[in-house]
Amino acid sequence: MTRVMHKNDINFTGKIVWITGASSGIGEALAELLAGKKAKLILTARRADVLATLAARLDTAVKTLPADLYEADFKALTTAALNAFGNIDIVIHAAGVGQRSLAAVTPLQVYRQLMEINFFAPVAITGQLLPLCRAHMVVIGSMSGLMGFPGRSGYAASKHALKGYFETLQVEQDVPVTIVSPGRVQTNLSLSAITASGEAHGVMDEAQLKGIPVMECATRILKGVARQKKHVIIARKEQYLYWLHWWWPRLYYKIAKKYSFVRDK
Ligand SMILES: NC(=O)c1ccc[n+]([C@@H]2O[C@H](COP(=O)([O-])OP(=O)(O)OC[C@H]3O[C@@H](n4cnc5c(N)ncnc54)[C@H](OP(=O)(O)O)[C@@H]3O)[C@@H](O)[C@H]2O)c1
Repeated sequence: MTRVMHKNDINFTGKIVWITGASSGIGEALAELLAGKKAKLILTARRADVLATLAARLDTAVKTLPADLYEADFKALTTAALNAFGNIDIVIHAAGVGQRSLAAVTPLQVYRQLMEINFFAPVAITGQLLPLCRAHMVVIGSMSGLMGFPGRSGYAASKHALKGYFETLQVEQDVPVTIVSPGRVQTNLSLSAITASGEAHGVMDEAQLKGIPVMECATRILKGVARQKKHVIIARKEQYLYWLHWWWPRLYYKIAKKYSFVRDK
């Protein structure tokens, strides 16, 4: 069914959109959809070659801005992003890294890495931009940012922190912020997820493969952003677990404990 456009909906044509995590998955799908709407794009991720190939494929104005958000110079990065087209209308914080390790065996360094990429990077970018422009912040959180999940202690912590920061921004300032909480989406997230050794998981989890198709997720994200929604949940079964977490906590704990990230393989 075609959704009727609301008169206050954002029209993405000509909007300058900075997407982090644009080389893959949700960020890449958003870049493709926004290029179709003739937004002007600034694309960030570590893999410069992948970004360049994507940029060449997109039929719109694109600038690539490769960076490692684990250890970026955020002042220089945001200045370069602002200079790319002279302003920024929307920032989509999609860069992120997953986790596959139980809390009991996870060293602090793994938590630091997850927090640097998933939490401190979006906060640093936002902090740099707030005094300079009134960009709409779109944050890709997670259902794990709304409840705990086995094997995701650091990931869940980083996404809870992200929600805490951006929800506070929503009540502090007149800056549009959309917090997106997806359940499982068909992307490479499980392949690059960090394990207790700090190495990549390197396995495409079966559950990840059964997730929401990435284009469907990206389409729903853009609908939420166009409508300037404060929160968008995009999930299948996970959202029932979330509601149980509030309304029937004993059942949430019973079900969530049965999930094993080992069994996910
Ligand atoms: N897929 C899911 O089931 C799911 C569910 C809920 C939330 N999410 C969230 O959605 C976002 C996008 O993930 P995805 O599912 O699309 O996974 P993905 O396909 O693995 O994409 C992750 C993106 O983040 C970038 N990235 C990772 N580390 C980076 C770093 N140090 N510096 C700069 N960029 C970095 C990657 O690019 P490079 O490797 O080129 O740097 C890639 O573009 C993440 O925040 C994730 O937590 C995903």
